[in-house]
Amino acid sequence: MTEDNLLYEGKAKNVYKTNKENELLMVYKDQATAFNGKKKEVLPGKGVLNCRISTLIFDYLIKNGVKTHLIENLSDHEQLVQKSEVFPLEVVLRNIGSGSFVRKFHLEDGLELREPIIEFYYKSDALDDPFINESQIHALHIADKEEIATIKQMTLEINQLLIPFFAQSDFDLVDFKLEFGKVNNEIILVDEFSPDNCRLWDKTSHHSMDKDVFRKHEGDLVKTYHSVLERLTTR
Ligand code: C5P
Repeated sequence: MTEDNLLYEGKAKNVYKTNKENELLMVYKDQATAFNGKKKEVLPGKGVLNCRISTLIFDYLIKNGVKTHLIENLSDHEQLVQKSEVFPLEVVLRNIGSGSFVRKFHLEDGLELREPIIEFYYKSDALDDPFINESQIHALHIADKEEIATIKQMTLEINQLLIPFFAQSDFDLVDFKLEFGKVNNEIILVDEFSPDNCRLWDKTSHHSMDKDVFRKHEGDLVKTYHSVLERLTTR
């Protein structure tokens, strides 16, 4: 892995070319950012924890029939993944009202919802990832109607798999963000699933066990992620 092979430098991961045309190397970094990079800190140990948690979750989803980009882990912070045409979309699913949703509508944190909500955001650091609706996605050729329907269906299925997965470790899955790509005309789950891109609340105390700890200065993020991994592996 050399800097020449660096394809994309992200906030929490770097992506490198490999010697195979259809495979990429994803390297998790010891960095936490929030508010679109305005708050940033180096946190030793975070990359390994995110990689291990995401691998655990992707392996579980794969076992349950979800198509993903994960091929194998090359080390405790590196994953070999399938190259795909990534949709420039962040797909957010909410089971419980929190974060930007309750801020936007002046609602109370932890609000019960009649059914899960799916929202799309256009991935653009320069524009601060603006909200985008389905007709805008279709009209702008970001994804067609059939692709949007598949992405929504996969997001709901992943939610149905992950709610009981986290409940077994006494977590409520409040919300999460997914990304999708397309390879050989098939839509697959890409990126990662870790406490960086979901909200996990302890079922009893309702304390955050996710990146809100960093966003709201609520404690040690690495220690929090360590206990998430421990609770997911010892049950
Ligand atoms: O901030 P908001 O409430 O819209 O976030 C919803 C979910 O999406 C949270 O779990 C958050 O961590 C995740 N998210 C993300 N990356 C973003 C924006 C939100 O992973 N750029």
